[in-house]
Amino acid sequence: MAAGFRSVGIMRVLVTGGAGFIGSHIVEELGARGHEPVVLDALLPTAHQQAPAVPDGAEWVPGDVRDPDTVTRALAGVDVVCHQAAMVGLGKDFADAPAYVACNDLGTAVLLAAMAEAGVRDLVLAGSMVVYGEGRYDCVRHGQVRPGPRAVSDLEAGRFEPLCPRCGAELEPGLVGEDAPADPRNVYAATKLAQELLAASWARAVGGRAVSLR
Ligand SMILES: NC(=O)c1ccc[n+]([C@@H]2O[C@H](COP(=O)([O-])OP(=O)(O)OC[C@H]3O[C@@H](n4cnc5c(N)ncnc54)[C@H](O)[C@@H]3O)[C@@H](O)[C@H]2O)c1
Ligand SMILES: [Zn+2]
Repeated sequence: MAAGFRSVGIMRVLVTGGAGFIGSHIVEELGARGHEPVVLDALLPTAHQQAPAVPDGAEWVPGDVRDPDTVTRALAGVDVVCHQAAMVGLGKDFADAPAYVACNDLGTAVLLAAMAEAGVRDLVLAGSMVVYGEGRYDCVRHGQVRPGPRAVSDLEAGRFEPLCPRCGAELEPGLVGEDAPADPRNVYAATKLAQELLAASWARAVGGRAVSLR
């Protein structure tokens, strides 16, 4: 057998953002199931106020997903990529937009280009339900409705729950279906949707497989 033969079922998995809140659990779970996790993480100060935590037993490639050389190094021998690295939450103000777009979208594009080059064809992306903009809401009289953005005056008055856009009645929250339309309403949400669109373009261009977990 050629060098590099691997036992069936054991995967070497690059987890970008593998030192983060969700990524560190994925890395632990992969290790517990006998897979080989590799962590690529820049340990952003915003995400690591306490001691940085790269999970035990994982190989760690310190660095940024926007850096092609680092990403190429981290991809050596990798079967699957689980892309968790991102700037999360809402920025302080719109001045943070370039940092979100750079980390989340430029970073994803650099990663996908390096995967294309390295022949890695499987991607699991950390999507988010923020791409839907809102949860699902039902009005007793009008059925499923789509409330618009909350008014500042409502928020200032402590009215956080949206009302029926047709009759003003209180709404019943429900679970969002996968076929709900995308409606990203802030910079973070826009970057999470762009990640999905980039991943879909990559999959079509290289014959890869991409799954986004919203
Ligand atoms: N936590 C949630 O509730 C939630 C909900 C929906 C989606 N998500 C998505 O899940 C993923 C992980 O979120 P989390 O809550 O674990 O966030 P987190 O901030 O705890 O982890 C993100 C990790 O990515 C790293 N990182 C960020 N930018 C990087 C870059 N440019 N290069 C290398 N490393 C970088 C950070 O250092 C951090 O360790 C994100 O993609 C996020 O959008 C999270
Ligand atoms: Zn109504």
